[in-house]
Amino acid sequence: MTTILVTGATGTLGRQVSERLRTAGADVRGLSRRSPSYAVDLRDGKGLDAAVEGADAIVHCASTPRGGDDRAAGFLIDAAKRAGTPHLLYISIVGVDRLPLGYYTVKRRVERMIEDSGLGSTILRTTQFHDLVLRILSGAAKLPVLPVPSGVRVQPVDSGEVADRLAALALGEPAGRVPDLGGPEVRAFTDLAGAFLRAGGRKRRVVPVRLAGQAYAGYRRGDHLAPGHAVGTVTFEEFLDRRHRHPA
Ligand SMILES: NC(=O)c1ccc[n+]([C@@H]2O[C@H](COP(=O)([O-])OP(=O)(O)OC[C@H]3O[C@@H](n4cnc5c(N)ncnc54)[C@H](OP(=O)(O)O)[C@@H]3O)[C@@H](O)[C@H]2O)c1
Repeated sequence: MTTILVTGATGTLGRQVSERLRTAGADVRGLSRRSPSYAVDLRDGKGLDAAVEGADAIVHCASTPRGGDDRAAGFLIDAAKRAGTPHLLYISIVGVDRLPLGYYTVKRRVERMIEDSGLGSTILRTTQFHDLVLRILSGAAKLPVLPVPSGVRVQPVDSGEVADRLAALALGEPAGRVPDLGGPEVRAFTDLAGAFLRAGGRKRRVVPVRLAGQAYAGYRRGDHLAPGHAVGTVTFEEFLDRRHRHPA
């Protein structure tokens, strides 16, 4: 039986990747700080050897924008080398090499560490998940008006479709950097805000706000988009509709 370690297994993506791999018959180990089975803080790496031992593949979904992902990746790579060099898969973001955002810079560094590790590896970059757009809009909707970044388009993708792709890759051979996975539509943020309000039957005025800084200039340029890889099929409206019928 194939043994696969999923880091970040309690997160939005890791949970779904784990489900798909279990359905495919793999023996799945779920790791995170709060995991009931493999409770490991990747930033200190304690307990990592036991989690990696005997694994055929590692799907690395654990991440935090608070910093330390590169340190965590270092511990994971070292543990993988000690454990017989399993296939290491990494989920990254379209534009990590273009957008000057601290979180993206760290993710690009982790990509390089994995590419240079000597391990068989696979790296998939995707656009933003629908879940993230929903979280941003839900937070903003707590105000009497709905502020959204002006001039920014998004190409959100269904995290379930990302999980499908990542699980399939984990059951295959190391493939290096694979084609990006983007959502089906490139949409203005203001337009997605309208869809969010309609789906929830809410009334708010959508207020475009121009944000300063290099990172937002990058978002306005569309450095985070992959229009040539619009292979996801689930639209934001379909995602919202499903979320209404089956709340997470
Ligand atoms: N969200 C998006 O739009 C998007 C788009 C493209 C790519 N991605 C990438 O996809 C990956 C997963 O994203 P997500 O949205 O599923 O994230 P998420 O829901 O925030 O989940 C993050 C996971 O990482 C674990 N984690 C965080 N810090 C950890 C640490 N120090 N040690 C061990 N586990 C740790 C968390 O569990 P505990 O809290 O229990 O530790 C959780 O299981 C990330 O690499 C992200 O960059 C996300």
